[in-house]
Amino acid sequence: MICVLIAIIALIISAVAISKPIGSDITDQGETTSTQQTPQPAVAYSPSTYDASRCQASNRRRIFTVVIGFDIGPYEYSDDSGFQVGFGHDLIDAVCQEAGIDCRIVTEPYTNCMFSEKGQPERGGIGLMEGWYDACTGWLASRQRKQVFAFSKPFLKPFEVYFYAFPGFNPFNITGKKIGLASGWFTNEACIAGLDQVAGRKVPPSNVFHAQTLDELLAMIQNGTVDAGFGAGYALNTKISGTNIQRFPSDPIFCKNAAGGGMMTRKDNDFNSKWNEGFEKLVSSGRFKRLCDEARTKHGHRGEINCVDA
Ligand SMILES: *[C@@H]1O[C@H](CO)[C@@H](O)[C@H](O)[C@H]1NC(C)=O
Ligand SMILES: *[C@@H]1O[C@H](CO)[C@@H](O)[C@H](O)[C@H]1NC(C)=O
Repeated sequence: MICVLIAIIALIISAVAISKPIGSDITDQGETTSTQQTPQPAVAYSPSTYDASRCQASNRRRIFTVVIGFDIGPYEYSDDSGFQVGFGHDLIDAVCQEAGIDCRIVTEPYTNCMFSEKGQPERGGIGLMEGWYDACTGWLASRQRKQVFAFSKPFLKPFEVYFYAFPGFNPFNITGKKIGLASGWFTNEACIAGLDQVAGRKVPPSNVFHAQTLDELLAMIQNGTVDAGFGAGYALNTKISGTNIQRFPSDPIFCKNAAGGGMMTRKDNDFNSKWNEGFEKLVSSGRFKRLCDEARTKHGHRGEINCVDA
């Protein structure tokens, strides 16, 4: 894109140069024309003098900004000194290195990537929609989300989902129950509606309660605002330890129409193609598997790391 733009600018400059003497108006076109400031015949400004190596050099300087959230199991959390760590950080470092791209992590609320409100399908979060950054990390590619954003190859397997409630909750009949959801999560009304084994799975909007964060969801279960919270195991399993909240059913369930977790971008962003290249190199060199094994040691106290088989 940048290269095409420069070529167009070069064309415009050449047109200007033919009709006018070479003046200062050329120099304020930016560094791409800086080599062309010494007086030369007008022909020197033809598009054929456009310097591709310069264009590539400026592309290489591009910085990709990648969002990581604050608190998801072993993937994203702050260590004892308050420093953000997790498998997501390790993976971004490794893949971007393999891809030869410059990636910088931005910590942001999840709802700036994707958010949802009672009775509505998920919507693109303002940060990713408005291009505040290139990608959000570890998002599950659901059918609903694919209508909004593009996804890289998955690096995590599809996530287990559960109802979180006090002992005695029956996850196979939620008729009339108040259900808490976390905004922007794939564990939403659409996912519940697809759970064939659950009676009352079409939860009316009047029984849906949205929390902005997982901690708020937990508080809503604890203070009785909802009968159960519905969420991803990898995000909530560690949070309920030390409480009397349990997960239901005992065997994991999965959302329909949901693939694994990967990078999520706007559909017009080129990050995923570069990421996929780097990821494939990481997998074929065996480094991805090693990274996952190491992460299980490093971050395993925060829960299981569910890498795709590689
Ligand atoms: C589910 O629970 C509702 C309300 O308690 C009850 O009326 C209904 O018969 C139950 N359905 C099944 C399939 O058990
Ligand atoms: C329960 O917790 C939620 C989330 O913190 C809060 O918004 C709500 O006001 C609380 N409700 C009661 C009855 O305490």
